[in-house]
Amino acid sequence: MSIAIGLEDDAEYKKICENHKHLIETLPKCNGWRTLHLHNYNGYWLSTKILKSNLLIHAYFKSQPTDIFLASFMKSGTTWLKALVFSTLNRDRYTFSNHHLHNHSPHSIIPVIDAESYHITDFTNLSAPRLFSTHYPLPLLPACMSCAKLVYVCRDPKDVLVSKWLFMSKLRSKDLPPLSFDEAFELFCVGASEYGPFWEHVLSYWRASLENPDKILFLKYEEMKKEPEMVVRKLAAFLGKAVTVEEEEKGVVREIVKLCSFENLSNLEVNKTGVEKFGKVLDVEKRDFFRKGVIGDWKNYLSDEMKERIDGITDEKFKGSGLTFTTV
Ligand code: A3P
Repeated sequence: MSIAIGLEDDAEYKKICENHKHLIETLPKCNGWRTLHLHNYNGYWLSTKILKSNLLIHAYFKSQPTDIFLASFMKSGTTWLKALVFSTLNRDRYTFSNHHLHNHSPHSIIPVIDAESYHITDFTNLSAPRLFSTHYPLPLLPACMSCAKLVYVCRDPKDVLVSKWLFMSKLRSKDLPPLSFDEAFELFCVGASEYGPFWEHVLSYWRASLENPDKILFLKYEEMKKEPEMVVRKLAAFLGKAVTVEEEEKGVVREIVKLCSFENLSNLEVNKTGVEKFGKVLDVEKRDFFRKGVIGDWKNYLSDEMKERIDGITDEKFKGSGLTFTTV
């Protein structure tokens, strides 16, 4: 899919990395959920490797106008969005009875720029439109990406918190003591989690989508669960491949929704076994991307007081923005 450029021996690359190392040493730190520390870079908390990747993206990544980026805060429905966008865009290429997604996981077909060693990886051989995903907040993306199209998915922060804590606990370094849910809750509320603060992350894309609706499509996980067919039509139109009357008659939208459903994807062998490699940053058991896939599982983890606190922060941060979550 991509080939190595081999920058690691390049003198300029080494100098750039050295400068990044010095910069990172000067940044404020907090406890990480998976790693020992996160660094605060321009208002956002990132692990050391993810921050180094971000700095290198600015130095090396060249976006093309036909690129499509799928952006999200972690655990907001990225895996699902990858499957939906891939199958919507490529609906002429595969039949639903013998689909590429039957034996390729959503993460293996759409690279995440945050973790790929893109600085040593050549993505120029990918055919247009190139699909990438990212968890970086909009202010941390390089300006060259502004010509590309972007789909953002957000989710109720209470469900994000629970999903993220369970996921990160599995990935947490065995050298560190476990992170309790109470600790994770406190950190989340003050914004201190990978890619956080959650609210600023969401707002960065929300505001940009209002300013530039042709370039940024803003979706909600809850809306995708309730009206998946409507979301597929929206995605198709946004990506410049609106669903035709003939396709509607053939039930193509329904097939895409079925193919990408939690029930279908989570039961495919390709998503149940093996490890997903995210560059040199992380290995994740594929099955860990599929847990429950429901709205409102937070009720099994948050006390009334915790719910009130998070909802209060959400109301306060989103006040006047026009963005709301239908909480259940
Ligand atoms: P839960 O942990 O609440 O079940 P991401 O893909 O951004 O890492 O998000 C993972 C969350 O999306 C998990 O939520 C996972 O179960 C859910 N998910 C994965 N695939 C899904 C699908 N096809 N439909 C709905 N939810 C899905």
